Amino acid sequence: MITTDQKELIKATVPVLREHGVALTTHFYSRMFTHNPELKNVFNMGNQGNGKQQLSLAMAVLAYAENIEDPSVLVSAVMKIGHKHMSLDIRPEHYTIVGKHLLASISEVLGEGATPELIEAWAVAYQQLADLMIGLEQNLYLESVAKKGGWTGWRPFLVKQKVKESEEITSFYLYPADGGKVADFMPGQYLSVRLFLPELNLLQPRQYSLSSAPNEAYYRISVKKEAGKTEHPNGLISNRLHETVLEGDVIEIAPPAGDFILDTMKDTPVVFISGGVGQTPLLSMLEYLASTESNREIVWVHGARNRQVHAFREPLTTLEGQHGKLKKHIFYDTLDELMQVEGGYYEGIVELGKLKDVALLKDADYYICGPAPFIKKQFYDLAAMGVNKEAIHYEEFGPANLVLS
Ligand SMILES: Cc1cc2nc3c(=O)[nH]c(=O)nc-3n(C[C@H](O)[C@H](O)[C@H](O)COP(=O)(O)OP(=O)(O)OC[C@H]3O[C@@H](n4cnc5c(N)ncnc54)[C@H](O)[C@@H]3O)c2cc1C
Ligand code: HEM
Repeated sequence: MITTDQKELIKATVPVLREHGVALTTHFYSRMFTHNPELKNVFNMGNQGNGKQQLSLAMAVLAYAENIEDPSVLVSAVMKIGHKHMSLDIRPEHYTIVGKHLLASISEVLGEGATPELIEAWAVAYQQLADLMIGLEQNLYLESVAKKGGWTGWRPFLVKQKVKESEEITSFYLYPADGGKVADFMPGQYLSVRLFLPELNLLQPRQYSLSSAPNEAYYRISVKKEAGKTEHPNGLISNRLHETVLEGDVIEIAPPAGDFILDTMKDTPVVFISGGVGQTPLLSMLEYLASTESNREIVWVHGARNRQVHAFREPLTTLEGQHGKLKKHIFYDTLDELMQVEGGYYEGIVELGKLKDVALLKDADYYICGPAPFIKKQFYDLAAMGVNKEAIHYEEFGPANLVLS
């Protein structure tokens, strides 16, 4: 048990963490990867490169230090991390390694400021957090194996079919290579894919949202090919999936996880708002509602640069024709004449203000997915138009750095 004095010591380090949080975690990662290089196969070395993972762990440590008196306020954040850890097969023994390097890093970064009492307080606090997370993750693993077709860890899947959905996005139809069933999932969840990268001599995991309605036979993911810019390289896994992984190949998959899910018990309206490849988890929710012949009113708002990069355009038009209660509104950078005649198309970035009469529905839930600035804009626009923040749900495609309130 952590003592009152130790809690005071932890709270006293909050300002230091605020100042040096990112430096501390950067030091921590470099130390851990030097001593335990096998963990490079577990972490996303792309996110290490662009600094996002460092920020996200620093924020978690800071949030914990700030809430040491009552860590229960962090439950939903910890749940989100737990789902991510479960999808990466993080196990209790990994916490021992992380704890060792985190404490040594605090000591090395703070220098003389890191008294034995302070380090002991952090050791107790870290173990308290680790025990909480290990327990929560254990439940997620147990839930996963209890499902029909459920499993934990990495399982081989056959890439049976690749379907090009746009110039940049390709879908992968994945079937268990062992001939078994796939585990059920909630619309909105993701899974992790792991590939070996010869150029790094490492295995690398990435998360992809399931993009179709749940079914017992296969999983579908839809992946955008991440092009590099002059200052940084092409995305490692997405390019390999597009270029090197072929139909008939086998890749490794960890089971569905994630807390960004459609509440399937409700019968109130749903508004889906996506930018680019951010449509994938929302498409799974939409296909679920269509396949269960739901009576819920559905609004689909989507932004793409143009028709060429707009994935799932035709299936959406077909669904709108079949499902009496689905209405779609599409934003492109510029419109051609045909779109102006067709209707339902708008010029520019997604502006919910233009859709006030059709997209703000009584008692609706709003699901947003896209790049971080997109999520931020839509969240605050909805809030400014009077939508209750509790009804707005969002998912970021990277280490979760956005906390909107
Ligand atoms: C919950 C969740 C769901 C997701 N769902 C989907 C989905 O359905 N479809 C989908 O396409 N993606 C999805 N993603 C994103 C996906 O996991 C990958 O992040 C994405 O495919 C890029 O991976 P990569 O290996 O190709 O790129 P990485 O190699 O990981 O690089 C990531 C980006 O950083 C850039 N970069 C690389 N190095 C540097 C550097 N040194 N400095 C600055 N920038 C750099 C790259 O150009 C690239 O744009 C999801 C992510 C999460 C967390
Ligand atoms: C108390 C200890 C820990 C804390 C506070 C913590 C915190 C976090 C946070 C905040 C994220 C980002 C979550 C998200 O993307 O939504 C994350 C992701 C991750 N964590 Fe942990 N974590 C801890 C322990 C561990 C351990 C023991 C391991 C395994 C060695 C681990 C491996 C990972 C990996 C691989 C990711 C995904 C990284 C990425 O995609 O770049 N974590 N963790």
